[in-house]
Amino acid sequence: MAFDLKNKLAIALEKRAPLFDVTDALRIVNGAVDGFPGLTIDKFGDRYQMQFFGPELLTSKTEIVEALAALFNPICVVTKERLSSSGRSLENAPMDVVVGSREDAVGTVREGNANFHVDLLDTINPGLFLDMRHVRLEVEDRFRAMSGASPAHLADLANLENSAQTGLRFLNLFSYTCSFSVHARLGGAAVATNADISGKILDKGRENYALNGLDLRPGEFFRGNAIEYVHWAQKKGLRFDGIVLDPPSFARFKGFNFNVREHLMPLVADCATLLNPGGFFMVSSNYSEFNLSAFARDVLAAVSSVHPNAKTSWKKSQDVDFVGSGSTKDSCLVATLVEV
Ligand SMILES: C[S@@+](CC[C@H](N)C(=O)[O-])C[C@H]1O[C@@H](n2cnc3c(N)ncnc32)[C@H](O)[C@@H]1O
Repeated sequence: MAFDLKNKLAIALEKRAPLFDVTDALRIVNGAVDGFPGLTIDKFGDRYQMQFFGPELLTSKTEIVEALAALFNPICVVTKERLSSSGRSLENAPMDVVVGSREDAVGTVREGNANFHVDLLDTINPGLFLDMRHVRLEVEDRFRAMSGASPAHLADLANLENSAQTGLRFLNLFSYTCSFSVHARLGGAAVATNADISGKILDKGRENYALNGLDLRPGEFFRGNAIEYVHWAQKKGLRFDGIVLDPPSFARFKGFNFNVREHLMPLVADCATLLNPGGFFMVSSNYSEFNLSAFARDVLAAVSSVHPNAKTSWKKSQDVDFVGSGSTKDSCLVATLVEV
């Protein structure tokens, strides 16, 4: 049993080998496809998170932890039981430290040129959504390419004193810990504006800026409803060279219920009015009812209502570490990127 488990873990890790050069934060087990039905294992550097989405392997938990510990010598392993007795996925899942101490659950991970704080005990989300890695890296690449290419609207402004007011601008809606923005700034964005309802989460974003040696610039942190920010930015006539819109499926804020099915596409059209020509717009969702083709088509239609020459650059789901995605509750990503 122990040998079999170690073997399956080693094979699962090996499948993700293409990612090792890029990051030390990745999903190493994604459920049944890796021989672990109902279980995901995420690696955050030398820390590991095991999430049980189904009852299948709960009785083998100790053996799996032992195999993981023998193979990877982790600083810390945290288990999260995400399934209630009625079979519903739990947001406030019981979390246990099964290797190391509670203090060991906090650390940093590397992703391309960036580093991020993680805390495996913070909530069910440790501070970095692994399924968005490829998009974050692309955001950095796109800003690097744009800042090198000096788009026309920047040329006149290049000599002005305050580049933070005049350079490339990025908008990160529902920003969480601002990881997209860290990559945008590392790629050359002068200002990366984060909108999130949680002050605590934005503080973690500020810590991520500091970890990457980035100063905090005026207008970069908006605490409040992302939809209100977009309407305010429209009135102010603000423009951005890249926008990321990656909202939760449902959220409640001051009596307002955000529902991705109802509110996403009107928000996409509003965001499109904030885009500079030559800019890009990435929209994504983990709502399990969305179909990728229809989602990408609807996003393009909404953006085209403002920018008639808009075109879809790509539509995709998770990165290679989420092999077999769609089979677990937290891996049903649809994402598309439109250029205008
Ligand atoms: C799924 S996460 C977004 C993930 C993020 N885009 C990333 O890749 O790291 C959801 C975030 O949306 C925020 N949120 C929920 N409702 C919001 C609203 N109406 N306006 C702004 N932020 C909101 C939450 O506080 C949380 O940080």
